[in-house]
Amino acid sequence: MSSKLVNRHDGIKNMSESEHLMKTYAPLDVCFDRGQGAYLYDDKGTEYLDALSGIAVCGLGHAHPAVTRAIQVQAGKLLHTSNLYCIQNQQQLSDRLSKVSGMDRVFFSNSGAEANEAAIKLARLHGNKQSIENPSIIVTDGSFHGRTLATLTATGNRKVHAGFEPLVQGFIRAPYNDIEAIKNIAQNSKNVVAILVEPAQGEGGINLPDANYLNQLRTICDEHNWLLMLDEIQTGMGRTGKWFAFQHSDIIPDVMTLAKGLGNGVPIGACVAHGAAAELFQPGNHGSTFGGNPLTCSAANAVIDSIEQDQLVQRAAELGSRLADGFIKQLSNVNGVTEIRGFGLLIGIELDRDCAELVKLALQKNILINVTAGNVVRLLPPLILTDAQADQIVDTVSQLIQSFLN
Ligand SMILES: Cc1ncc(COP(=O)(O)O)c(C=O)c1O
Repeated sequence: MSSKLVNRHDGIKNMSESEHLMKTYAPLDVCFDRGQGAYLYDDKGTEYLDALSGIAVCGLGHAHPAVTRAIQVQAGKLLHTSNLYCIQNQQQLSDRLSKVSGMDRVFFSNSGAEANEAAIKLARLHGNKQSIENPSIIVTDGSFHGRTLATLTATGNRKVHAGFEPLVQGFIRAPYNDIEAIKNIAQNSKNVVAILVEPAQGEGGINLPDANYLNQLRTICDEHNWLLMLDEIQTGMGRTGKWFAFQHSDIIPDVMTLAKGLGNGVPIGACVAHGAAAELFQPGNHGSTFGGNPLTCSAANAVIDSIEQDQLVQRAAELGSRLADGFIKQLSNVNGVTEIRGFGLLIGIELDRDCAELVKLALQKNILINVTAGNVVRLLPPLILTDAQADQIVDTVSQLIQSFLN
């Protein structure tokens, strides 16, 4: 009764529009009923190859047996207590994240935006400890950090701000991948306390900075006692061919935020801190009713186990090269393809024109892709792809792009 049956497409009924859901999304005409590995099946049993993983969430694919089992076992024992009490599998998860990242302490949230909210609060505490009035965080154009008021303000996209003014104070904007701009801000502003940046911009169009960008940011942060805060919500959990994208350089950030791939579909985020930043929060400074509860931590522990056991970080690097090589072979000489960008399994194919309709055309070919920044085909396939599935993504998406451009 809550969903209106909409009669379209020659009488085919679909459930994608509802009278009672807020109109925040404009879903495609497909409802998935189940998934298995890299495939999704709609309510009629039609199979789709998933080259998007729920936007970088289901890195282990759908219905991964270890994650399913962990959730089932935990649900039969205990779903929730409260952070008023010790949660053993939350402690285990923090130990494991600390081991794979080299960072010190973790705060668990329920989403990426909330992980970034925690990071923003850490930056403000860091400023307040030094008696800096109106502490400011540098953020970059083209970034995406979430939809809460502070994180949408941090986001470098006017469309995300529009209508929600007044925005939150305490952010300074700079172009992405522009070290001179950061140096200028350092010279002219005395109240900067942190930089919040994505190691590669996901929503912004798979924008990859110069190889030494993070190293240079680290140096500037050290010189000025700013926190280097990396939003790894899209790049983390093995996707780029390292556990975390910062591990492609020689630095360690003060703060890193995670979500998406951490729970393989179970909602969990994390704000991970290193060194002095890890000691900033004290009891009473921050919290969350659901954050880090036994159910979500059981899933995230199973995700880390499976990534380790199946060596999926190395596999993401191999698959990323295979896909990038394939696309370069098939598309680099095609008129209208302006750039092919790959960072492990974060892949962007930029066209010289807007191409949002490719998403629907791909759906008709039974493959799930995304278009971001208007003209960038974005692929975020699961880390468990077979070689044959990777090749199928290259062939199908290349053909789609070529016929779209013709
Ligand atoms: C880099 C980045 N940061 C933050 C977010 C927000 O995460 P969530 O939607 O879980 O709040 C996203 C989501 O797409 C993201 O890609």
